[in-house]
Amino acid sequence: MRSDLLIRKVHLSTFADPSGYGELRNAALLVRDGRIAWLGAEEALPAGLDVAVEIDGEGGWLTPGLIDCHTHLVWAGSRTREFEQRLAGATYQDIARAGGGIVSTVKATRAATLEELVQSARSRLRALLREGVTTIEIKSGYGLETATELRQLQAARQLGAESGIAVKTTFLGAHALPPEYAGRADDYIGQVCGEMLPAAHAAGLADAVDAFCESIGFTPVQTRRVFDATRALGLPVKLHADQLSDLGGAALAAEYGALSADHVEYASEASVAALARAGTVAVLLPGAFYCLRETKVPPIAAFRAQGVPMAVATDCNPGTSPCTSLLLMLHMACTLFGLRPDEALAGATRHAARALGLHGETGRLAVGLRADLALWAVDHPRDLACYFGHNPLIASWSNGAAVDPEKRSA
Ligand code: NIG
Ligand code: FE
Repeated sequence: MRSDLLIRKVHLSTFADPSGYGELRNAALLVRDGRIAWLGAEEALPAGLDVAVEIDGEGGWLTPGLIDCHTHLVWAGSRTREFEQRLAGATYQDIARAGGGIVSTVKATRAATLEELVQSARSRLRALLREGVTTIEIKSGYGLETATELRQLQAARQLGAESGIAVKTTFLGAHALPPEYAGRADDYIGQVCGEMLPAAHAAGLADAVDAFCESIGFTPVQTRRVFDATRALGLPVKLHADQLSDLGGAALAAEYGALSADHVEYASEASVAALARAGTVAVLLPGAFYCLRETKVPPIAAFRAQGVPMAVATDCNPGTSPCTSLLLMLHMACTLFGLRPDEALAGATRHAARALGLHGETGRLAVGLRADLALWAVDHPRDLACYFGHNPLIASWSNGAAVDPEKRSA
């Protein structure tokens, strides 16, 4: 039978099991119609194959393509001045209350065209593609009014179409209070639920819905209103939860069967238990923790003990995590949060897929799944989390097609 792609002379790290690398040495993998059609020991490769493209992996390691399951990749403007302000002593909360922070990005994003948004995000996306990312989540949340929120999500879809990788969009209208609603947060939530979210859904632009549940974001009660409206539309929820304080956000997310609760530094024991019961993924974002110079580490031991799947993502955004390296996040998940390298890597493959509702589609090397693959010049997959500032990617494939990070858009 004819196959599209054969990768041979590789070692596989499948992440097929809930823990460990899933090592299979001296192996090969076959792709047909964009899916993994066969994998196993090289010597067991079926005879008489008719293959369109054959790759000699030269003893490298093949892993699932990496998944960045939490980004705010599409924005306009710059917040580098805030970095200086924070170094001089201002806190993220101080800057937000003074009208900077998310709201300053909103001003610039509202003024940007679709083309400008796509173009500025493209360079960030390319950096991620160069590190083997084949699936990415992109949130809105810098428009805070219907037209700009939709434009951000359109930009995200366009980036997916032109790059050939899978983009999952998340509507984050409840990210911050826009200045025109100052003192009227409940009215703004009414607008999010009554107009913005239905518009994003009707346009087919929202694969999931997120909110920022925090003292400088929205209350648990307001978050509930967003989640109720989301549930009525049949979409899954995610939540920026317990990042700077414990508002019970992770437990609230779990109550709604959220795909993920993200940040979760301050999640309580009870919230961890709720996540475990709901099967909700804890998405760890060491870039924001590091950049804000936070000190409260997420309850990793409790996640482990309760069996909460942990994902790792960049949180790429202009304020708290201006970072386009998922490999660096793997390293920092180990050094700052105490993950093992195999846990960090599962967090950017197997568990990241679950955080996007894609567990049955990608994030592991298994027959029938999408052929989202990354080939690395490393001695062992743990090297990917150990080294930092080093990129050993040889090649990557999305849905069986080679990814070209430098591809010019039409
Ligand atoms: O994930 N916490 C809220 N949202 C982003 C920050 C966005 C921003 O500061 O622009 C985050 O850290
Ligand atoms: Fe975020």
